Amino acid sequence: MRKVLIATDKPFAAEALAKITKVFKKAGYEVALLEKYTAKSQLLEACADAEAMIVRSDIVDREVLDNAPKLKIVIRAGAGYDNIDCAYAKEKDVVVMNTPGQNANAVAELAIGLAIYGMREMYSGKAGRELRGRTLGLHGFGYVARNVFRIARALGMKVIVYTRHSREAAAAIGLKVTHSLEDLYGKSDVVSIHVPAKGEHIRSVSYKVLSELKKGAILVNTARKEVINEDDLVRFMRERDDVKYLTDIEPDQKQVFTDEFKGRYYATPKKMGAQTAEANTNAGVAAAEQIVAFFESNDSSFQVN
Ligand code: 3PG
Repeated sequence: MRKVLIATDKPFAAEALAKITKVFKKAGYEVALLEKYTAKSQLLEACADAEAMIVRSDIVDREVLDNAPKLKIVIRAGAGYDNIDCAYAKEKDVVVMNTPGQNANAVAELAIGLAIYGMREMYSGKAGRELRGRTLGLHGFGYVARNVFRIARALGMKVIVYTRHSREAAAAIGLKVTHSLEDLYGKSDVVSIHVPAKGEHIRSVSYKVLSELKKGAILVNTARKEVINEDDLVRFMRERDDVKYLTDIEPDQKQVFTDEFKGRYYATPKKMGAQTAEANTNAGVAAAEQIVAFFESNDSSFQVN
């Protein structure tokens, strides 16, 4: 019997887990569950006899891969797979896949929620501002950004985007694509970041880019902390007390942000973007089905390594 390990520090919703388990039961696979683990040793022990793994932001590094000699496939139930050592997995003939788009609406709704929270002065009682009529700048144009676009348009926002890889897709739906990141930041009342933590995107939100922000601008990050140059953001926020930063990923210098930027900085206590029953179900069931398709029909769609 094939053994699948579901290893999620941040557990899937119960209804999602029931549906995921059903997919594996139907295929005749055994399922092991490791949730909310507190030590890496627990993950190392749990993966020792697994042939497949489903993870979220859980770290799958060399040590984990070396400890799982039967492992054939790891699925990141979600979009970003920067938590997995994909190159080493390839060396070990372990297929890595993600489940693109499956949790995008959940993340997009959180991004809009954070934008509203910022515009309403963190629900402090102070008079805030409305999103309607303002300009939203999408930094990146993947699945999440496309959902943010849909919601923002319904709220009466003007939406613009900066993307290098999806220019045609954006233009096809009538979105104005700015000629540079600086141009995007300079024209937006709210900027929402939706790029992965890789390549040119790493630390792409630099002082030079931030300096373009309009007075009172709000920066929302539901992507990754690595896409921000954190020293530059701290420097910029020290100089510009009109700007707010709301994020779903705690910065490394969390204490500095908390102490120095009261009323204009907020971070969720744990990455919450994809933490809905719907997103857990969509991404989790997709992951389960991809594992079964991989073993039963050699299907390696969504492979990323
Ligand atoms: C993703 O990359 O899919 C999101 O960041 C969600 O991550 P999570 O599964 O850890 O909530």
